[in-house]
Amino acid sequence: MSGPLLLAVESSCDETGVALVEDGRRIHANVVASQVALHAPTGGIVPEVAARAHLRWIVPVLDEALGTAGVTSADVDAVAVTCGPGLAGSLLVGINAAKALAWAHGKPLVPVNHLEGHVYAGWLLDPGEAEREAPPFPLVALVVSGGHTFLVEMRDHLDYRLLGQTVDDAAGEAFDKVGRLLGLGYPGGPAISRAADGATARDRQFPRAWMPGTFDVSFSGLKTAARRIVAQARADEGLPADGREAALPEAVVAELAWGFQDSVVDVLATKTLRAVEETGARGIVLGGGVAANAALRARIAGEAEARGLALVIPRPGLCTDNGAMIGAAGARRLAAGVRAGLDLDARPSLPLAR
Ligand code: KG4
Ligand code: ZN
Repeated sequence: MSGPLLLAVESSCDETGVALVEDGRRIHANVVASQVALHAPTGGIVPEVAARAHLRWIVPVLDEALGTAGVTSADVDAVAVTCGPGLAGSLLVGINAAKALAWAHGKPLVPVNHLEGHVYAGWLLDPGEAEREAPPFPLVALVVSGGHTFLVEMRDHLDYRLLGQTVDDAAGEAFDKVGRLLGLGYPGGPAISRAADGATARDRQFPRAWMPGTFDVSFSGLKTAARRIVAQARADEGLPADGREAALPEAVVAELAWGFQDSVVDVLATKTLRAVEETGARGIVLGGGVAANAALRARIAGEAEARGLALVIPRPGLCTDNGAMIGAAGARRLAAGVRAGLDLDARPSLPLAR
């Protein structure tokens, strides 16, 4: 590989990430400072706290990434940065760091859509990883994160046709809210997945919102159903309605976590496979924090294998927010001639588009 070396910065939410990526694929360094512990006491992200933490960590993370890759910021060919969607204050920290580096070394500044980054994580190769084929077009990408849930068709690089999206909560948001309901703490996704693994009985059914005739999904009804099912389980155990006073037995929490996760996975996998059938796609790419979910990965892997489809699911650390995915998408944008000036601003509600 000998394409351009990009320095990529990600700070849209609660992870400060800086990576060095060669040719849009090979990771040379990918350092992420997570704020999960910082936001755990509030059970969610406080934007002002997140922005301050990015400010605290951006320079150390940058230094560590350069050190790991064994380069200086003068050696890179371009600087890519997430410009949206995300939290304005958080985005601005990464954008200003990237601008300073691009300006100081006279390098192109490439603006990247965070959602596009989640899609392009599927192209990344870890430092020692053997070369493998890039995902084949046309493909269907499912991005499921804490803030977004959508299905797109890609017939070529940077070419996205939105097939469907959530009409209310993102999948990760549903995991986080139901995790809280079950007393599993923040973030709920990994906690629900761990709890569900321990379920011995797998018969607690949660409803599925099929949204027939569309590729859209909805999780707000499931969340309301979860509230009702948890309240009923508490009553059945003779516990008071307020979960802070006494927790449900671990075995019941595990069964409920399994039932909820099964509903989310079933809907996401079914919609994705239907999208593949309808578009004639040759492969599937999964991205976003919820793509770290083992049950979702296993279900889609099984279905893809049965149909002879190519499937790329990044390792969990590349599904959650990181700088490398911005470097992967940034390289495609660089090749397409996309550039930003020093007036680049945060775009908190940026949709996925070229
Ligand atoms: O992509 P991401 O790191 O940040 C956003 O751009 O939102 O996604 C974070 C989301 C959180 O809601 C978290 O609960 C969820 O991804 N998540 C998971 C798992 N790991 C992270 N959800 C289900 N199962 C997991 N193993
Ligand atoms: Zn994300």
